Amino acid sequence: MTSDTVAPLSTSKGPGIDIHPLYFQYPAGELDVTVNVYENDSEAASGLGAMIEDASKAAINSHGAFVIALSGGSLLRALQTALIGRADIDYSKWTIVFADERNVPHSSPDSTYGAAYEALLRKLPIPASQVLAIREGLPVEHAATHYAGLLLDLPASTLPRTPEGLPIIDLVLLGVGPDGHVASLFPNRPETAHTCTSTWVLPIKSSPKPPSERITLTMPVLNASKEVAIVALGDSKAEVVQRALEVQSLPGALPVQLVRPSKLSWVLDKAAAENLRVNEWQEIKKFPRST
Ligand code: 6PG
Repeated sequence: MTSDTVAPLSTSKGPGIDIHPLYFQYPAGELDVTVNVYENDSEAASGLGAMIEDASKAAINSHGAFVIALSGGSLLRALQTALIGRADIDYSKWTIVFADERNVPHSSPDSTYGAAYEALLRKLPIPASQVLAIREGLPVEHAATHYAGLLLDLPASTLPRTPEGLPIIDLVLLGVGPDGHVASLFPNRPETAHTCTSTWVLPIKSSPKPPSERITLTMPVLNASKEVAIVALGDSKAEVVQRALEVQSLPGALPVQLVRPSKLSWVLDKAAAENLRVNEWQEIKKFPRST
């Protein structure tokens, strides 16, 4: 396990895709990131399970509930190993929300809720009322507003708020796409540049990754979370992991570099970490680490 400081320090503005420029900005200051590299994907999944267990215990001790946000894609496979059959986790206190979701029926093979239910949720003793799924059959703008309403309806004892009124999710689990997207926040898109703190969930109408209609938590919501873990397993993630951790991009070009909560961890296996030059991190502390 290697822990280090990772800090995109640029305040330069990113390019826009519109006639209106989009302003992306890396906040000033350094960021503490823990990078966990495991031998293989099953050890990474077990390490992720231990991390989730710790976060769950800490949240239940501090406010009597644990709110965890899930993403879709390959993350769900790791969560099966991490979470199924764990008698040491008090699932009755959990609330599951989705960091992003596709605007499709729950029965669609594209539904993250549907996939999470089949792979995981039906095997965990979490009360159904504590799994917040997208409302089916709505236009995507309404689906986003409705989903934000579900989050707003959670009492502050379950989902505390920051002084600015953002929700403090206990743990957000993110995958990362080859283009550096997280949740459904894609490179150089207006939704990724969104900074308004009163909108928690945005509609996405033309996602570059199908299906095209999605809803997503905003970057300010991800960054207000108590903790975020980015999970990237397998050699197909090696390139984006290296870019994210060692090469400073123009702000907005690699959304994963805009994820800056107070506690950030990466969960990698050796295959995903194979392009990292961790032994050089002691010398080159700041972004960009690449020469
Ligand atoms: C989605 C996701 C998305 C995902 C990444 C990584 O709906 O597509 O929520 O953000 O986590 O694309 O997915 P993979 O790990 O499957 O590549």
